[in-house]
Amino acid sequence: MNQHIWTPSRRIFLSRSLTFGAAMFTVRGAFADELVRTPAQTEGPFYPRKLPLDTDNDLIIINDGITPAVGEITHLTGRILDATGSPVKNALVEIWQCDGKGVYLHTGDSGKKQDQQDKNFQGFGRFLTASSGEYYFRTIKPVLYPGRAAPHIHFKIKKGGKELLCTQCYIKGYPGNEKDGVYRGIRGDKARAAVDVDFTPIKASKFGELSAKWDIVLGDTPADA
Ligand SMILES: [Fe+2]
Repeated sequence: MNQHIWTPSRRIFLSRSLTFGAAMFTVRGAFADELVRTPAQTEGPFYPRKLPLDTDNDLIIINDGITPAVGEITHLTGRILDATGSPVKNALVEIWQCDGKGVYLHTGDSGKKQDQQDKNFQGFGRFLTASSGEYYFRTIKPVLYPGRAAPHIHFKIKKGGKELLCTQCYIKGYPGNEKDGVYRGIRGDKARAAVDVDFTPIKASKFGELSAKWDIVLGDTPADA
């Protein structure tokens, strides 16, 4: 499944990514009783109509391009967990978000705003989890676009071709969150906290890169493939 995602050059990137991710996670399966399931949220209108040619987990560089995307580079990691806290392997994690200028890859948006679009931003990426359930993307910190008050990243989790969850994550503490219709539609403080993500500067980074960690808890326990 999805073999076309992994080209040799991407495999190098991927292995580096997992090392980065592995260092961040030490607790596994603990406090399973306290896990809050990640709330489902609307897919919205901008899931790409046609997937880009490059769909790897690095949204900052398209194929072998040399110009990076505009935005605050973010190392976005986390685990896909089932409701008992066990990692889910072979989960296909898809993300999509607008570029640093507020334009989605979806032709309904980018078609109207070609002069504004950041053509170096991939706009969509995917990652297949291994047994640790971890995912990793290099992307940008989300920014605002017309129609929403809260910057966000869209996520879809699939397994064996079946969609298990469609949701979004947000910048924790961003003032616009409370005015955003989709965010406000999430009922309860615990459920809202479950979609709030810290975007934290990486001290060692000379380029102001950020790290963001978001564990996603699925509602059903998917059968292992
Ligand atoms: Fe959106």
